[in-house]
Amino acid sequence: MKFVITAGPTREPIDPVRFLSNRSSGKMGYAIASAAIEAGHEVVLISGPVNLAPPADARLVSVITSDEMYAAVHQAVRDCDVLVMCAAVADYKPARVAKQKIKKRDEKLLLQLAPARDILKSLPRSRDFFVIGFAAETNDVEEHARAKLATKNCDMMVANDLSDPEIGMESDEIAVMIFSRNAESERISRASKKIIARELVKIICANAKKVLTKKF
Ligand code: CTP
Repeated sequence: MKFVITAGPTREPIDPVRFLSNRSSGKMGYAIASAAIEAGHEVVLISGPVNLAPPADARLVSVITSDEMYAAVHQAVRDCDVLVMCAAVADYKPARVAKQKIKKRDEKLLLQLAPARDILKSLPRSRDFFVIGFAAETNDVEEHARAKLATKNCDMMVANDLSDPEIGMESDEIAVMIFSRNAESERISRASKKIIARELVKIICANAKKVLTKKF
């Protein structure tokens, strides 16, 4: 199968020397890319700025901002079977980017933010590829993940609980819950991101084949 996998954070510029970002390390997305290649699939890896070496056989598309990731995803899904949206794409970006460095002053500085485009929500409803979203939650994990599965029009939603600091965003281990449209859910208990990634690739392929019956 042809996988498109997004990974890592995005950076939203404030001025020429500053940006807004988040703590995503990219490890989960890179682990899924490696696991998919290991299982014999083709992989396009669309990555925000991270300190990781991409798997040798992946086609790497490097992006920085949420707008660049948006464009790269729309281009890549023209020819894919599975889209895994593992990236921590910004929800907000500065409403205006200052052309020159903002100088320090002795008063409060108000930064106005505008919503960034939601990549998952922007995908066509009728499509011939399987879509997996990731839900990073600190509370009411199942409720929020199921709501995102519906509003973001995904086929599967993988939720990770960030309330436990030992298995959070930057750590090497996680535990996930997988929610599907048919109300089924599945848990993969705490393990390394490498092991979770292998399990996820198996589950994704089995479910994608059921949905993409015309292709496989
Ligand atoms: N996502 C996206 N475009 C954005 C933001 C997020 O496509 N601009 C995708 C992520 O890649 C992920 C899913 O949406 O697959 C859920 O991301 P998450 O940060 O958990 O949810 P948000 O929509 O940002 O909602 P909230 O921050 O309120 O939990």
